[in-house]
Amino acid sequence: MRGLMFNYLLEYIESRHGYGVVDAIIEESELDNDGSYADGGMYKDADFIKLIATTSETLKIPTIQFLESFGKQTFSPLYKKFMTIYDHDVYKQNTISSAFDFIVMLNTIHYKEVTKLYPDSIFPHFDIINRNDSTLEVIYRSKRHLPFLAKGLLEGCIAYFDEVLIVEIQNDSKEKNTHFIIRKERA
Ligand code: HEM
Repeated sequence: MRGLMFNYLLEYIESRHGYGVVDAIIEESELDNDGSYADGGMYKDADFIKLIATTSETLKIPTIQFLESFGKQTFSPLYKKFMTIYDHDVYKQNTISSAFDFIVMLNTIHYKEVTKLYPDSIFPHFDIINRNDSTLEVIYRSKRHLPFLAKGLLEGCIAYFDEVLIVEIQNDSKEKNTHFIIRKERA
């Protein structure tokens, strides 16, 4: 996983629980390094997972809840960080004025734009299987399998566009791919 994701994770914990807690979590996680990450570096996915597991144990917060809330808070800073490198001509051709507009372009945004900065990135895939005015169905695929981080980021995206939408996982979250339904109202 890219170093910037580790940095967002550690900053998120520090902003809520202070540096002492972050330090203890790093120590307890027995990572490959001392917990310092260069934004552009690539680090072991296993260390990211260890940090999440230790945080959940230390703070007594279920992993699912922690990942969702971390994802939700991280969407906006992540998007703002990369906005400056976006190809604005692509943007003009593809008006993004809602969370649905943004989400359907995730593969494009991830691959075309972020890859300019980090060519060796390994991104999740978001396949759109259905879209109408009130519902969007998306399949998340990633060998890292972090569906609750994806759910939190989707919720952060919805909040960014100041919308009220419900994000539900339709299948068993342990399955390889995750089927999200994002809708205006609960069915
Ligand atoms: C609804 C919005 C988004 C969702 C659901 C989402 C989902 C995810 C997830 C779940 C991961 C963890 C890795 C994995 O699952 O394989 C990830 C990684 C990443 N995302 Fe996103 N993301 C969103 C928006 C963005 C945006 C706006 C950017 C930047 C423009 C971005 C850049 C990245 C980067 C740089 C990584 C790390 C990739 C690597 O390790 O090489 N994401 N994303």
